[in-house]
Amino acid sequence: PVLVVDFGAQYAQLIARRVREASVYSEIVPHTITAAEVAEKNPLGIVLSGGPSSVYDAGSPTLDPAILGLGVPVLGICYGFQVMAQQLGGEVANTGLREYGATDVTLTPGTSMLLGDQPSLQTTWMSHGDSVSRAPDGFAVLASSASTPVAAFASDERRLYGVQWHPEVKHSEFGQRVLENFLHTAAGIPADWNSANVIDEQVARIREQVGTSRVICGLSGGVDSAVAAAIVHKAVGDQLVCIFVDHGLLRQDERRQVEEDYVASTGVRLVTVDAVDQFLDALAGVTDPETKRKIIGREFIRSFENAAEALVLEAQGDGASIDFLVQGTLYPDVVESGGGTGTANIKSHHNVGGLPEDLKFSLVEPLRTLFKDEVRAIGRELGLPEVIVGRQPFPGPGLGIRIVGEVTRERLELLRSADAIARFELSAAGLDNEIWQCPVVLLADVRSVGVQGDGRTYGHPIVLRPVSSEDAMTADWTRLPYDVLAKISNRITNEVPGVNRVVLDVTSKPPGTIEWE
Ligand code: XMP
Repeated sequence: PVLVVDFGAQYAQLIARRVREASVYSEIVPHTITAAEVAEKNPLGIVLSGGPSSVYDAGSPTLDPAILGLGVPVLGICYGFQVMAQQLGGEVANTGLREYGATDVTLTPGTSMLLGDQPSLQTTWMSHGDSVSRAPDGFAVLASSASTPVAAFASDERRLYGVQWHPEVKHSEFGQRVLENFLHTAAGIPADWNSANVIDEQVARIREQVGTSRVICGLSGGVDSAVAAAIVHKAVGDQLVCIFVDHGLLRQDERRQVEEDYVASTGVRLVTVDAVDQFLDALAGVTDPETKRKIIGREFIRSFENAAEALVLEAQGDGASIDFLVQGTLYPDVVESGGGTGTANIKSHHNVGGLPEDLKFSLVEPLRTLFKDEVRAIGRELGLPEVIVGRQPFPGPGLGIRIVGEVTRERLELLRSADAIARFELSAAGLDNEIWQCPVVLLADVRSVGVQGDGRTYGHPIVLRPVSSEDAMTADWTRLPYDVLAKISNRITNEVPGVNRVVLDVTSKPPGTIEWE
């Protein structure tokens, strides 16, 4: 792999993704990693990330200096660049000149493999207080900016490189080229990591892990569980059985998409649990959001365990056993929960709609090394339906937390219609890639006066909550075109009985969460 050393900002994940976009497998490691641990991983290259600290701060993150002497090609970025400068005998100065945002840099003519093929004046993205004031001996200065004399340096001979700017950020004009030059040219790493390889590798691994045991997997209708199950099915065929709980809080057509489209494209064996009555009975009279979440979580586990129990008995009858459970855990969860890099990550992990940790199964996690966009690419490679692979995030508790007030059949029906209209019009306008997701919320306890035809109405408002986000931890409301909003509003008020008003949520996160409950 290429190791991305995390100095504690969110940049490491972005760098790891960009490296993979260059078709090279990458892994994130904490900056506390030792040279011996690095050597054990046998990396083809190392990228040092940026970070929020100054190399002068007491307790600022450091790097085992022996890492730079391993003979593995290294690219330092921003803070990582400064750490390199300091460890290799250059100088880092606190000049008091901060650079933040789009910054022009001028390349030194005749420079190294890192920037050799690039225009001599380019825009980069900077974010730093300290600057490298003198490159280490034997290093060529490759670029400078108005306030930073050494904005990049290199030793082609030692295969050590550094840039002050952030090549992983799209605002750096030739950023991806810098990374590719480092990976392919300077470090000589082939561009051979792709979806097909990942599938082959996982299939082999799953076969080895699972042996002849049976495996179960809960499908939610979302991308992760669908792709995870499809890979496992490719590996062990009908040793896998999927369980899909219909809790009645799904959106229009979702059950059919799983039962028909997904099953047709994968051939997995699916058991659907029709638990609609059970959930709605349990939710009757409940309006408090946390109570709703708890009830939905509890009922979900109950339904899943009952279905799993039945499959265990069935397996026993066949002289087999079920030892494994598939989980669609993704790489960011792995990094965020186990990274231990001192990153301030304030991710409240909602696992409503998830499973308890004390299940008697070992986990099969075929997506553990992957980012979301990679999971989608693999789903497409496996031929899964686009409605599932391209699906935007949808919470485990479903529409249950999008009805502000008591959840009833009638209200769910109404919300499902409004939601279907909003989703249809957003897709028709080609906006699916502009938004992260767009919750549609029914304010069931609010009524307002309206006029329709000649008559007065007294109906409920529907809230549109379109958001743009990178990871759902922060978000901004999406500035949707007025004509699209008008179309959605017109259709919902005309076509959904009981709704006489459509309102737009213009709150960022923070302070508002994405969901209303
Ligand atoms: P909030 O509302 O906290 O949501 O800003 C952040 C993201 O998480 C989704 N979400 C959930 N997903 N189970 C889930 O699987 C849940 O209980 C849950 N609650 C919120 C939400 O849709 C958004 O993408």
